[in-house]
Amino acid sequence: MEVIIVRDEDEAGEIYAQCVADLVSVKLDAVLGLATGSSPLVAYRHLANLVVEKSIDISQVRGFALDEYIGLPLSHPESYHSVIQRTVVEPLGLNSENVHVPGDTLAGAPLSDGTRMAAGVAYDRAIAAAGGVDIQILGIGTDGHVGFNEPGSSLASGTRIKTLAEQTRIDNARFFDDDVTKVPTHCITQGIGTIMRARHLVLLAFGAGKAEAVAETVEGGVSAFCPASALQMHPHATIIVDEDAAFRLRHKDYYRYAYAHKPAWQGI
Ligand code: GLP
Repeated sequence: MEVIIVRDEDEAGEIYAQCVADLVSVKLDAVLGLATGSSPLVAYRHLANLVVEKSIDISQVRGFALDEYIGLPLSHPESYHSVIQRTVVEPLGLNSENVHVPGDTLAGAPLSDGTRMAAGVAYDRAIAAAGGVDIQILGIGTDGHVGFNEPGSSLASGTRIKTLAEQTRIDNARFFDDDVTKVPTHCITQGIGTIMRARHLVLLAFGAGKAEAVAETVEGGVSAFCPASALQMHPHATIIVDEDAAFRLRHKDYYRYAYAHKPAWQGI
């Protein structure tokens, strides 16, 4: 696990964009794991700029999103289907047929629709059939969730239906006119086991509100209580945080020292 403490979100975005550009230069049909939330936006923006600046051909790049609300029509501006279209597919110029969102054929269907269970299994199969995710970008919830894997999620879980924690609904109410009652209660999310199969995990966290979750993730015990702590078991996980989100880390000096002395050829 590598922890990179950046001066601001832009530096984090540049690091992610360069990492994806390096991958696409050797694998035209790279598979990107995509996340919603505000944290990855700067990374997508920098990647979109780099694609134009360096004329990178990303027409064959494929994508799999982490999660989706249940109960919102696909056309709802806050369905993750819409968010991924708006923040990733369109600005990057990806082929939308190559980009998938869990249960996207079922997003508007009621929770009682049992075919959703099958949708989770089918999604994990589709990721495997694509050869697996190369780089998975992740944000983190204030309670340590990744995707929508709330505390208590099995660290071996596959894509499935989950009930959102009240705190997550409160945190996400800002996307729903600050009205928590408009935030769906359920979701379909890649499991922690699914996420852990990606070859490289890049988690971004900014701001003091994430400091506790970041400290639990990086320096706490590995526990379903903080699902993101599973990243400690991943052979290639990069945690990129700003000073505020790094505030509660005890080994900040070492992380800074290690990054400053990193051989240039190593990449992230
Ligand atoms: C939602 C998403 C997560 C995201 C989290 C944090 O719950 N499902 O994937 O990491 O929000 O979002 P933000 O980056 O806006 O703080």
